[in-house]
Amino acid sequence: MGEIDLRVRDCRHFGTRCGRGPTRRFAEAADYRGSESAGVATYLDSDAIALAPFPDTITYLEDDDWAVLTRKTSVIFNAQGAVAHREVVKSGGSSFLVKTANYRHFMAKEIHAQPEVVGHTLRRYVDVAAERIALPQRLPFDFNDIGRISITGCGSSSYAGYVAKYWFERLARVPVELDVASEFRYREAPLRKGDLAIFISQSGETADTLAALRYVKAQGLHTLSVVNVPTSAIARESETMLQTLAGPQIGVASTKAFTCQLMVLAALAVAAGKSRGELSDAEETRLVQRLIEIPRLMATALATEPQIEKLARDMAKCRNVVYLGRGTSFPLALEGALKLKEISCVHAEGYAAGELKHGPIALIDETMPVVVIAPYDGVFEKTVSNMQEVAARGGNIILMTDAKGAREAIVDPLVTIVLPDMPATFTPMVYDIPMQLLAYHTAVVMGTNVDQPRNLAKAVTVE
Ligand code: AGP
Repeated sequence: MGEIDLRVRDCRHFGTRCGRGPTRRFAEAADYRGSESAGVATYLDSDAIALAPFPDTITYLEDDDWAVLTRKTSVIFNAQGAVAHREVVKSGGSSFLVKTANYRHFMAKEIHAQPEVVGHTLRRYVDVAAERIALPQRLPFDFNDIGRISITGCGSSSYAGYVAKYWFERLARVPVELDVASEFRYREAPLRKGDLAIFISQSGETADTLAALRYVKAQGLHTLSVVNVPTSAIARESETMLQTLAGPQIGVASTKAFTCQLMVLAALAVAAGKSRGELSDAEETRLVQRLIEIPRLMATALATEPQIEKLARDMAKCRNVVYLGRGTSFPLALEGALKLKEISCVHAEGYAAGELKHGPIALIDETMPVVVIAPYDGVFEKTVSNMQEVAARGGNIILMTDAKGAREAIVDPLVTIVLPDMPATFTPMVYDIPMQLLAYHTAVVMGTNVDQPRNLAKAVTVE
C-alpha cells in the first residue's frame, strides 16, 4: 500500500491491527515520527464501530488533525503541521459484537436486544432495590437554578428529546425548548447563562449536534450529553456525559439506542422533578417502579411480532402512510414514520393527532393506512375522535393500544395491536417496539437494504 495523506475532519478514528511480536509498540511508541509498528494493517473510519472487527487499538483524532498512514506506520499531525501525540486506546469492539447471531439483520437483533440493554441502562441510573433514581455522578448544577432546558439532537435522537420535553415539563415543571441541531446552531436563540442544554446523540459524532454543543458552551450554559459512545467528540466535550448502555448500534436505523436514550432521559426528568420539589419521595418511588417494569413490558411487546409481520405484507403495497399520536405518542408518531421512511423507502408522515383536521385529513381515503398510537391515557378520548374522522373517510386504521383502549376505541380498526397494560407516563419505550417491527418487516418484504439503507450514513459527521 502506498502512502495516504489525509486531512482528517470527517474521519475521527483510526485503528491498527497488530501481528505477533511487540504488539503494542505502535500504541506505546513515545515518538510517532516514522515509527514502524508491528501492525499488519491500518484502517481509517469515521465511526469506531466500523473498525470493531479489525484493530486491536484505536486512536481518536482531533479536529483538523491529519495523518500519513501506510500499512505499518502512521504519523499524526495537528493543524499547524507539527507531529501530534494522540492517545492510543484498546479497541472496545470485537467481531462477536458485530455479528447478527441468529437474526437475519442487525436491526432485528437490535430490536430484540432492547429488554436487556434498556435494563442495563436502567440499572445505571436507578437504584432498583431502593426504588430511587441514582445518577452515576453528581451533576455540576442545581436543577433549582435552571430556568429553561434546551434539548438538541438530529433525527431519532431529536425525537427522544421531544418525548423528554413532555417528561421534564410535566414531572419537573421546567420549560423545555426542543430543536433539531441544524436549526438551533444558526437561529441565534436567546440563551441564558447558567441554564441547561442537553444534547442527544447515539454516535456522539453528529456534526450539527457537536456544533450546537460548542455554540452553547461558548454562551456559558451547562452542557449535558446523552450518548452511546463515551469516547465520542460530543461525550468528551460535554460538561456532563450520561451514557446509554445500548451497546454497538450497527444498523443505521436507531432502535435500541433510541429506547435507551428514553430511559436515561426519563431517569433525569424524575431526578429534576425531585430536586425541584415537584415530586415527593412517594411519587419518585412510584415512577421508579414504573421504570423498573419497562424491560419486562418491552419483552411482552415483542410478542406482537407475528401479527406485525403479517400486517407488513399489506404495508409493503402502500405508497404512503400516516402516523398519529397525542402527548408523548406524538413524537413517537414522528419516530415511527421516520423509521418506515428510512428503511423501507415508503413515504410516511407523523402528525399530532389534533392537527389532522388542519390539513393532513385531505390525504385520507381508502388507500391510506393510518397508524394510531393510542395507549389508554388521559388523551385517549381525544384520539378516538380523530380516529372517527379517519374512519369516516375510509382510512385504514392500524391501532396500537392496550386492552382497555381496544375495548373503548368505538371505531373499527383494520388491525389492532394490543400492547401490555401500563401506566401512561413512560409508554413510548414500549410502544416504540411495534413501530420498529412494522418498519423492519415492511422493509424485509420490500427487499430493501435494512441495515444500510440507501443514501444514509450511520454517523453524519458532515454538515
Ligand atoms: C435514526 O434511525 C437515523 N439513522 C438518524 O435519524 C439518527 O438518529 C441521526 O442521524 C442522529 O444520529 P446520532 O444519534 O448518532 O447523533
